[in-house]
Amino acid sequence: MDNRPIGVFDSGLGGLTVLKEIMELVPGESIVYFGDCGRIPYGTKSKETITKYALQDVRFLLTHDVKMIVIACNTASAMSYDEIKSKLDIPVIEVIYPGAMAAVRETRNKKVGIIGTKATIRSRAYEKVINKLDASIETFSADCPLFVQLVEEGWWDNDITYRIAEKYLTPLKEKGIDTLVLGCTHYPLLAKTISEVVGSGVKLVSSATETARVVQDVINSKCCARDPEIKPVYSYYTSDSIDSFVAFGSAFLGNKVCSVGKTDIEKY
Ligand code: DGL
Repeated sequence: MDNRPIGVFDSGLGGLTVLKEIMELVPGESIVYFGDCGRIPYGTKSKETITKYALQDVRFLLTHDVKMIVIACNTASAMSYDEIKSKLDIPVIEVIYPGAMAAVRETRNKKVGIIGTKATIRSRAYEKVINKLDASIETFSADCPLFVQLVEEGWWDNDITYRIAEKYLTPLKEKGIDTLVLGCTHYPLLAKTISEVVGSGVKLVSSATETARVVQDVINSKCCARDPEIKPVYSYYTSDSIDSFVAFGSAFLGNKVCSVGKTDIEKY
């Protein structure tokens, strides 16, 4: 048994899509979430900057004595997973492999679209894993940088978001994809709009559920579950305004966002 919390981070609020699935799958676990809202976006930055930020995020979570780190950010997973993993002796879970596995499982016509931030798409991280799992799958990718801002702004479903989505996604739709990987943890919040644009015949796949399953497997295999008699505690931290974190988090997670703190992440 291990009563320490799970540490989860993202460049902002998108990682809450992963956190929500973790809460549902392992409801007895305490979680510390850090959203680096003050420095978002990561996806337009260089590998060096993203890795510097991601390591600071990890060092902050380690001050909370976490038993595991979940990189709830595709960009940081694609750019910095190896570096983070090499520095820690607790399990580190990333989101690319689980999302790629889901895509391989779902596609029927073996044409898979991948959308993500500029850094994630440039890294070709999804293509590498998908083609390792099944070399016959054809992949088509597009970066959709404005999606992150639209999500953080709360514009999940309006006509401007729809038109931007059309511009980004029409070329992928024309390739005849039957599966689309939402390769950024912000994008599930735009799922309704994305689905309207690509059509209901295209299956949307995100890493969130699959990543939560990996968390559950690691807890089971390492026998490090929290004592079920002790109520889990959820703590949230941001590097920017607490008010906007509470507003967004509560809208997305329901009543669950109450304890939010602000941290000066540059200190870590
Ligand atoms: N949520 C992050 C991801 O999954 C990206 C947002 C950003 O650009 O910072 O890639």
